[in-house]
Amino acid sequence: MKIREYKDTDELQWLRCRVLSFLDSSYFDNVLRQKEHYENPAIELVAEEDNKIIGLIDIEYETEKGTVCYKVGELGGVIWHLAVLPEYRNQGIATLLLNEAVCRLRNRSIKRLEAWTRYDKWVNDWYKRRGFKWKESYLHVYTEGNECDEITESKIEKLFIYNCFAHYIGDNKQEIKGKFKRVHECNLYELTLFD
Ligand SMILES: CC(C)(COP(=O)(O)OP(=O)(O)OC[C@H]1O[C@@H](n2cnc3c(N)ncnc32)[C@H](O)[C@@H]1OP(=O)(O)O)[C@@H](O)C(=O)NCCC(=O)NCCS
Repeated sequence: MKIREYKDTDELQWLRCRVLSFLDSSYFDNVLRQKEHYENPAIELVAEEDNKIIGLIDIEYETEKGTVCYKVGELGGVIWHLAVLPEYRNQGIATLLLNEAVCRLRNRSIKRLEAWTRYDKWVNDWYKRRGFKWKESYLHVYTEGNECDEITESKIEKLFIYNCFAHYIGDNKQEIKGKFKRVHECNLYELTLFD
């Protein structure tokens, strides 16, 4: 197994790795059909074994404060994608990807790293055990059928809204969780990168 930089010819394998890795997580239907590219510089690494991509990490980072991160502060980066195929987990592959990325970020004078993740306990624990500190959260709210009427209405005759995806940033999280069937807490973590 080796960690190396992503290259354009990896795209199909990268997409497959991401889809399959997310299937057993709360991001199961967050499917991409093209790899994301970034406005700002990024560290894009993959883990490869026998010519197969088995893990990946993408981190976009700032050259000017306040351009990429949610929190304004020291120059920072954001983990936009982190995934390891289920059959290759618990072998330290994600940790190797993170460590290599952190090493490169330090060389670029990046002082902190943000990560967003939903409620999967094992993923939250993974970040915490690697020194990330929980900062705050908001809700991802998915509604279906009649639930959509609770939050919006169609402006077009005979066009009915059947699915919605919304962000809730208010304080009444329990009320929202009680009202709709599919609600995910989305947590922000931050890792401080010391010199
Ligand atoms: C989070 C993830 C990248 C970790 O990959 P990994 O290569 O297995 O991670 P590592 O081998 O470095 O670390 C394994 C650790 O996670 C725990 N772990 C990993 N998968 C687990 C699972 N399915 N159930 C319980 N614990 C699990 C292990 O117990 C181990 O614990 P440790 O922190 O004490 O070492 C991987 O589980 C994954 O792809 N998850 C789905 C995608 C996702 O949610 N990405 C992040 C959100 S953006």
